[in-house]
Amino acid sequence: MSTAAAAGEPDSHGTAIAAERRWAWVVIAIMALLVAMMIFTGLHWSAMPPSRVETVDVKTLHLKGEFVESNLGTSVGADGKVTVRLVAQQYSFEPQCIVVPAGMPVTFRGTSTDTIHGFVVGTTNANTMLIPAFVSTFTTTFPKTGEQLMPCHEYCGTGHEAMWARVQVLPAAEFMAKAKPGERLSCVPR
Ligand code: CUA
Repeated sequence: MSTAAAAGEPDSHGTAIAAERRWAWVVIAIMALLVAMMIFTGLHWSAMPPSRVETVDVKTLHLKGEFVESNLGTSVGADGKVTVRLVAQQYSFEPQCIVVPAGMPVTFRGTSTDTIHGFVVGTTNANTMLIPAFVSTFTTTFPKTGEQLMPCHEYCGTGHEAMWARVQVLPAAEFMAKAKPGERLSCVPR
């Protein structure tokens, strides 16, 4: 051993530092790549981080306030803004069929009565979790008309895979012709 060291065995301490330094650069490159991907997907796909915390009382949700059954569905406000209100519960969404206009900003407001649910609308960027006692909200625009499936995408129990709704995206003019002030639109007959 001692003869090998004397004969110029590589400096193991120096080798370790060089290896650590190379590894540090690899990690920095990986982190830079991930941050770049987050920025790209955020801008390119209009990913929407939650903007604030809004709570609602689960115990009185069905009885009063914004999420009573008669207030669920799509409404057009006096200012022309389109809002969809929905409630998720094991194992369905209310309303079962949501109607929205194409090419106009649509704001979703939703919550859950029991456990964590979530939904994504077809291949659009409409995608959120629905959490008991919290109001999830986002605004998006549907560029294309047609019907989209809206499955629950958070595992919520044995009926999870059967939990889904539909979204009908109508031409804006057809939607506005159907929308009456103060009314809640959906594509399920009441
Ligand atoms: Cu609701 Cu999964």
